[in-house]
Amino acid sequence: MTILSDLSDDVFGVYVHWPFCLAKCPYCDFNSHVARKMIDEDLFLEAYRSEISHLAALFPDKKVTSIFFGGGTPSLMSASLVGAILDEIASRWGIDDKAEITLEANPTSVEAKRFKGYQTAGVNRTSIGIQALNATDLKALGRQHTVGEALAAFQLASRTFKRVSFDLIYARPHQTVTQWRHELGQALDYAHDHMSLYQLTIEPATAYYDLYARGKLSIPEDDLALALYDVTQELTDAAGLNAYEISNHAAEGAQSLHNLTYWRYQDYAGIGPGAHSRLRLGNKKIALSHHRDPGKWLEEVKKNGHGIADQEQLGSIEQAQEFLLMGLRLEEGINLDRYAALAEQPLNSENISDLAEEGFIELADPCRLKATAAGKRVLNSVIARLAI
Ligand SMILES: C[S@@+](CC[C@H](N)C(=O)[O-])C[C@H]1O[C@@H](n2cnc3c(N)ncnc32)[C@H](O)[C@@H]1O
Ligand code: SF4
Repeated sequence: MTILSDLSDDVFGVYVHWPFCLAKCPYCDFNSHVARKMIDEDLFLEAYRSEISHLAALFPDKKVTSIFFGGGTPSLMSASLVGAILDEIASRWGIDDKAEITLEANPTSVEAKRFKGYQTAGVNRTSIGIQALNATDLKALGRQHTVGEALAAFQLASRTFKRVSFDLIYARPHQTVTQWRHELGQALDYAHDHMSLYQLTIEPATAYYDLYARGKLSIPEDDLALALYDVTQELTDAAGLNAYEISNHAAEGAQSLHNLTYWRYQDYAGIGPGAHSRLRLGNKKIALSHHRDPGKWLEEVKKNGHGIADQEQLGSIEQAQEFLLMGLRLEEGINLDRYAALAEQPLNSENISDLAEEGFIELADPCRLKATAAGKRVLNSVIARLAI
C-alpha cells in the first residue's frame, strides 16, 4: 500500500455501509440497527450493485485506492457478500493493485471465524472494536464480547491480515488516569500497527445521552479528559505509534489510507444506507448522502437505482471550512495554497499570527499549517478561531 501525497488527484476511496449490529451500544449514534428478522443478503447485494453502477456512471474513469466496509457491524456480513461487492467495484471502476481494503470487525468469537473468508475475498486490513479491556466497562458499554474473546480475535486477525487496528474508547465513566495508563499499556503489548483511540462523546438520541441528561452518568470533566489525552500521547509515542491524526496512531507507513482520504479532503464515494460522498465533477465538489433507514434505502434503490436522499454542490467557503476542519486533525496539517484555492481567498493572516504567537499552530514550511501539541489539546477552539 502506497501513501499518495495529500495533493494527489489519483486518490479515490469507496465506503460501504453495513447498517446492522447484534445489539445497539448505548453510546452509539452511528446508523446501526438491530435486525428483527433474518437479513436477506441477496437483496442487499442487488442494491449495493445498483448503487455502485449508478455512482460509477456519474463519476467514471476512477481507480479505487481504498475501500472501507464500515458500520454497523460489517463482520456480520458473509464473506461471499463482501467478495461480491468487491467484484462489482472492480468491474465498474477498477481497484488499484495496492489498494487498502479494510473491514471493521467486532471481536466476538463467531465473527472471528469469518476472518479467513474476508481475507480470501480480498480484505487486507481490519479494524477491531475492542473498546475496553475490563469486563465491567465492556458490560457498561453494551458490548457483546468478553476481554478474552476480543484479545483472541485480535491475535487471529493479526495472523490473518497484514494490517490490523486495535480500537479503544477512553474517557469512559469513572475512568482514572492510573486505570487508563494500565489499560493502554496492556493494549500496547498487542497493538503493533495501528490504534484508533476515541474519547467517549455523549451523542444526542443515544441511551447514554438520556442517562447523562438525568444526571445518572458521569463522564470525565474537561481537566481529567485532557489528562487522559496526554497519557494517550505519551504511551503511544513511546511505543512508536505516532498520532498521525488526533485520535489515530500508527507505526511508520501503517496509517489508514482510507481515513487519510477523508481527512485530506480527497474524493470518496459512499454506498449503502446513510453513506456520504464527496466527489469532484470538473471543478465542482458534490456532496451526496443516502437514506439512513435500511428498509427505505432498499425501497429507493429498487425504484431509482440508487438511495441518494440529498445531493448538493458545495460552495467555496463550505469546501474550505470542511478542508480546515478535517485537515488540522492531521499531524501533517494543511497546505495553505490548497486552502486559498478552495476558499478563493487566503486564510486570515492575523488569526494565523495570533495563534502561532500563542503556541497553538506553526508554519511547517511556507505552505503548510499545523496544530502544535498544545493546539491539538484545544483543537476545536483553534479551528474556530482560524475559520473566522
Ligand atoms: C460505529 S463503530 C463501528 C465498528 C464496530 N461496530 C464497533 O463497534 O467496533 C466505529 C467506532 O466508532 C467509535 N464510537 C462510536 N460511538 C462513539 C462515541 N459516542 N464516542 C466515542 N467513540 C465512538 C467506536 O470506538 C468504534 O470503534
Ligand atoms: S458501536 Fe458498533 S456495535 Fe455498537 S451499536 Fe455502534 S456500530 Fe453497532
